[in-house]
Amino acid sequence: MDPDSKYSLNGKTDTSKISMKLKPTPVYFGNKHVGSPPAKRIRLSENGTNGIAKKAITFGNINGHSLKPKVNLQEQRKNLPIYEKRNKLIELIKQHNTLIVLAETGSGKTTQIPQYINAARIMENGKIAITQPRRVAAISVAMRVAQEYGSGMGVGDYVGYSVRFEDCTSKKTKIKFLTDGMLLREAIADRLLLEYTVVILDEAHERTIHTDVLFGIVKKAQRIRTERHLSPLKIIIMSATMDVDHLSKYFNNCQVVFIEGRTFPVNMYYTVKPHDNYQTACVSTFFKIHRTAPPDHDVLIFLTGQEEIESCAHQIRVLVKDPEVEGPPVKVCTLYAAQPSTQQVAVFQPAPIGTRKVVISTNIAETSVTISGIKYVIDSGMVKSRTFHPSTGMELLKVQRISQEQAWQRSGRAGRESEGHCYRIYSRSQFELMKKNSTPEIQRANLNSVAIQLLALGIHMLHFDFLDKPSNESIETAFEQLKLLGAIEDTDSIALTSLGKKMSKFPLDPRFSRILLSADKYGCLEEALTVVSLLSSESILLNPPSKREEALDARQKFNSGYGDHLTLLNVYREFENIGQNNRKTWCHEHFIHMRNILYVREVRSQLQEICKKCDMRGSSCGSEMDQLRKCLLSGLFMNVAELHRDRQYITLDKRQVTLIHPSSNFHGQQPHCVIYTEVVQTTKCYLRGLTSIDSDWLSEIAPEYTRNHNVKFQRDS
Ligand code: CDP
Ligand code: MG
Repeated sequence: MDPDSKYSLNGKTDTSKISMKLKPTPVYFGNKHVGSPPAKRIRLSENGTNGIAKKAITFGNINGHSLKPKVNLQEQRKNLPIYEKRNKLIELIKQHNTLIVLAETGSGKTTQIPQYINAARIMENGKIAITQPRRVAAISVAMRVAQEYGSGMGVGDYVGYSVRFEDCTSKKTKIKFLTDGMLLREAIADRLLLEYTVVILDEAHERTIHTDVLFGIVKKAQRIRTERHLSPLKIIIMSATMDVDHLSKYFNNCQVVFIEGRTFPVNMYYTVKPHDNYQTACVSTFFKIHRTAPPDHDVLIFLTGQEEIESCAHQIRVLVKDPEVEGPPVKVCTLYAAQPSTQQVAVFQPAPIGTRKVVISTNIAETSVTISGIKYVIDSGMVKSRTFHPSTGMELLKVQRISQEQAWQRSGRAGRESEGHCYRIYSRSQFELMKKNSTPEIQRANLNSVAIQLLALGIHMLHFDFLDKPSNESIETAFEQLKLLGAIEDTDSIALTSLGKKMSKFPLDPRFSRILLSADKYGCLEEALTVVSLLSSESILLNPPSKREEALDARQKFNSGYGDHLTLLNVYREFENIGQNNRKTWCHEHFIHMRNILYVREVRSQLQEICKKCDMRGSSCGSEMDQLRKCLLSGLFMNVAELHRDRQYITLDKRQVTLIHPSSNFHGQQPHCVIYTEVVQTTKCYLRGLTSIDSDWLSEIAPEYTRNHNVKFQRDS
């Protein structure tokens, strides 16, 4: 069928059981055209950088030839677009102390540039740091580079990685991949980053809060190292697409270099009308492609989060087994942050001959990782991201529309190796209404973690040299919160209190470090450590869509009448009592994510170490849960909600109306007063991660907050 014509899942006339099962909204796509994201670029031509080329670029076929599968690693390296330019690039890196490198995703920036620098012995073979916004990317890229580096060395030797709670480096490590958050932590101990001779801030276009702060930190470290005649620091900023002028200006008009990639035309299709249910529309669109496309044409679907992705994967797996569905066998892979690394590896492996691979991913696959063989992209047009509203004090995890820039990145994934197709599950007018660029995280996130880290560096956020400044309102809110948590005496102070200094030692949100630091007072450090570790890791509960009821039944015995945090504590306590040999079976029987719970254990032992360094005694409350609930409240007193009327909860802080999230084990019950860890907004606002508390405790535990912030329970007023 012509891709431009109208279609329904199983053909226009067929109303088979497939469409019944899926209940698909037929998705109609309008006219096809070839995508051309607008951009400004500076090209690396034969005679060097030659200024800004202001013409719009198309997904043009530039010296294109596709990578052959199964060629050896060194051959693959030579096939990357960046390879031909490596000598010129090395020369530029030698010449300039700061350099911005732009190239399409998949060109080889992340994996190759550190190796080129290392091989060329730039900076006398000092240590190179390369930051990644996501831990998944930091780990997978380090593994890949270790493999490419060869010499029988594994990751952790010459090439290593360091992400929160996981350090895989050694004395031998010269190329170190780390999350931007980790490098920021390292800067607290080593303000001039003297351990490194080169710092590469990668994926700069993502503009995460940590990368934005690092821009200022490395800029200052470089200046001071030069002034003090210490070993110089080379800074390289790498990005897929970005407003380069702005960034270059910030780095004292530094040199920008654009490496032309190989991209092929991408045929774009928009839906004729908007769709309410983008997930179903994605599944329908997949089957439309599946019926006609050759088996080696792989498909990449962009959705927003784990639950959605697993449910979509489940639907596809069920439907392909249906004898009435035409098309080759399908290998369904998923990609999201919370996933076990074994499954992540599967994403990069080619499917067997004659089988189609479909990868269902969050925005990780937008620019952080590159998957070979993708010929079709289905873009839901949505992304899940965290947004903080300083006026309401609410931090929301919200599914929202992507920006046009993200839409172009997503479509580009279809044109890496040959001509491709991108189905946008939104209309052209919806696309026109999308924001051009995404708002940098620093302008939409809760700043209290970063504020305390900067204070640990002796810097007040108001005086920090930001690329884009956060609003004064969010800075004030962050300092207000730090004051209430006891980390600073005054909101204009640049000194941390002794409690604040201890808080800054934990790689945690200050609210969580406060919980740990109060725990001895309530005699429950063991339990607080477990709960905070559980909250700092991915969920340990498995809820496969096809066995939801079974999973809930199997875990029924862990349910605590005090809510979710204490239920999780019960799971962890029982896990610790199970002998090592029986763990796997136990996890399987109770639908517990074995890898995640082992990770929680690791996190817990690291947090315990920091507690020891902060001179904490260690204590346990046994079954005295009031102590633990009070301790949780000591950090989360700004996250209290009260039952308002039928099922509705009002947050005490800013009086927002919310509901209990269906995943909570309080769902269907109505405790009078709760603390929550998160607010999630879909069609309504939901509280997630709950513990019930006694309303009398609030004024006892957070007297300043209740007194000065006019925080009142309705019952009392
Ligand atoms: O950073 P950039 O997007 O420019 O590219 P890269 O991450 O260095 O990837 C270069 C190539 O290495 C990609 O085209 C992938 O085919 C390959 N790669 C891989 O196979 N497995 C990884 N974990 C990372 C990269
Ligand atoms: Mg990269």
